[in-house]
Amino acid sequence: MEEVKLRRQGVQSKDHGLRMLPQEKVKDLIHLSLRAKEHAYCPYSKFRVGAALLAHDDRVFTGCNVENACYNLGVCAERNAISKAVSEGYRSFKAIAIASDLNDQFISPCGGCRQFMREFGSSWEAYLSKPDGSYVKMDVSELLPVSFGPEDLSMKKVFNIPNEY
Ligand code: THU
Repeated sequence: MEEVKLRRQGVQSKDHGLRMLPQEKVKDLIHLSLRAKEHAYCPYSKFRVGAALLAHDDRVFTGCNVENACYNLGVCAERNAISKAVSEGYRSFKAIAIASDLNDQFISPCGGCRQFMREFGSSWEAYLSKPDGSYVKMDVSELLPVSFGPEDLSMKKVFNIPNEY
C-alpha cells in the first residue's frame, strides 16, 4: 500500500473566492459580533460568545450562545447566526466575525461550528477577535482542513446501498 498525498481544493461553487473584505467592513462586523455577545445566555459556562455573519448581499445576521439547564442542548453563537440566516433563505456567506471576553486570546470556534460553517463552502472568511477589536483572519478551509462536506456524499463509492437495505 502506498501513501497518497492529499491535495484538496477549496470548494468554490457557492463561495466568494477569498475576496478581501475592506478594513471598514471588517471593523463593523467585529463591532456587531461584540454587541451580539452582550445577549449571550450563558449562566452555566459564564463564557459569552457573539457572532456576526455577513451574507453575500451584505446583510448581517448576528448570534450569541444560548445555554440550557439540560447542558448538552446549548447552542453556540456561530451556529445560531448561521441558522438564523439559513432560516431566512440565505446560504451564501462572505465572512463571520466571532467575539468573546477572552483578554489575551483570539476566540477559536469549536469543532462543531467549524463543520457548520464548512457546510456553506470552505473559502470564506472567519475573523477571530479579542475584546479590543484586534483579530486574526482565517478562511474556513484553514479552520477545517481536509474536511467532509455535502459534495462528499455524492462522490463515487465502492458500494451503493440498495433502496431495500
Ligand atoms: N461557544 C460558542 O458559542 N462558540 C464557540 O465557538 C466556542 C464555545 C460557547 C458554547 C458555550 O455556551 C460556551 O461558549 C462555553 O463553551
